[in-house]
Amino acid sequence: MFTVKKLATMFVAGGVLASLAACAPPGAPAGGGGGEGGEGGADCNVGISMPTRSLERWINDGENLQQLLEEDGCTVDLQYADNRTEQQITQIQNQVAGGAQILVVAAIDAATLGPVLEDAASQDITIIAYDRLLTGTEAVDYYATFDNYQVGQLQGQFIEEELGLADGEGPYNFEPFAGSPDDNNAGFFFQGAWDVLQPYVESGQLVIPSGKLSATNDDWKSIGILGWGSQDAQDEMDNRLQSFYTGGQKVEVVLSPNDSLALGIEASLKSAGYQPGVDWPLITGQDADKANVQAILNDEQAMTVWKDTRELGKRVHEMIKSLTAGEEPEVNDTETYDNGVKVVPSYLLDPQVVVKEDVEPVLIESGFLDPADVGLS
Ligand code: GAL
Repeated sequence: MFTVKKLATMFVAGGVLASLAACAPPGAPAGGGGGEGGEGGADCNVGISMPTRSLERWINDGENLQQLLEEDGCTVDLQYADNRTEQQITQIQNQVAGGAQILVVAAIDAATLGPVLEDAASQDITIIAYDRLLTGTEAVDYYATFDNYQVGQLQGQFIEEELGLADGEGPYNFEPFAGSPDDNNAGFFFQGAWDVLQPYVESGQLVIPSGKLSATNDDWKSIGILGWGSQDAQDEMDNRLQSFYTGGQKVEVVLSPNDSLALGIEASLKSAGYQPGVDWPLITGQDADKANVQAILNDEQAMTVWKDTRELGKRVHEMIKSLTAGEEPEVNDTETYDNGVKVVPSYLLDPQVVVKEDVEPVLIESGFLDPADVGLS
């Protein structure tokens, strides 16, 4: 790990090396940058490990951070692991072998990376967990994310307010979904929503005809969709509609923890003959994916929880700048994220609800999406 003292020493040494390098023959690699070319930032060699390209947010996350770091002259190796844990492990091993001094990791399955991260930490590599906490290991130094519990809370509160549950409205036919059981975030998303909604299930204002009920917050994995796949969510919704909605009753509200699941649920509802503005249920989401923002504009999704991943990239960039300057990175939460071995110093950003009226003033005007991305001229 980059301790402040060790970094300061490196920095001085780097300075000495740089002055010597100034005398080196032209074309000699600047500093000991490691990495394939050994070129670029001698004091800043970063491996970025993202889970997949199959969800657009991760493409944006990786490319945003890579651009910020390369603008600083850092050497960056960006890898996507196709949602395959073994591939992610190999990619991280290669980044370590390639001279990375800092690893930024968005885990596919956080519990499987302990050995490769401990090997990296034994070589004084600093490890930053990105968006998803790295669990079960001492070898994680910082965590940067959005407030995951708040994401779920916003989804639960949206349902509560839209349906007038606090005013005693109901009963409504309700179908809860949860995220991938191997994703530490999914537990926080579910718990945030369930802490709002469970009282209404107990009061009978929210009825779950499928019976797919998480008896306790810990049971959320029983209604989780592995790998966050849209098709698996669609298949699950098909099964619920065909098995439990045969007597003419309709689904009226769906808790979807993110947009990829919401997309599959919406496809299932369409194939079952549901129509927006007629009998379409209230559906939640997260990530402001392009297809889902279009669904929001088409009244096929009620909201998404927007996480401006550009801000997350900037935050991690700030952490890395501090580390390479021999300073402690700024954190704003040193209590919430216990990874089973240690409480990881974290920086939490705030997510926000986006509904139809917010698409233009929030998502388009901020530059997060282009009008053409969502079918606007
Ligand atoms: C979560 C992430 C969410 C969600 C999901 C699918 O860990 O925080 O933004 O989209 O993964 O990638």
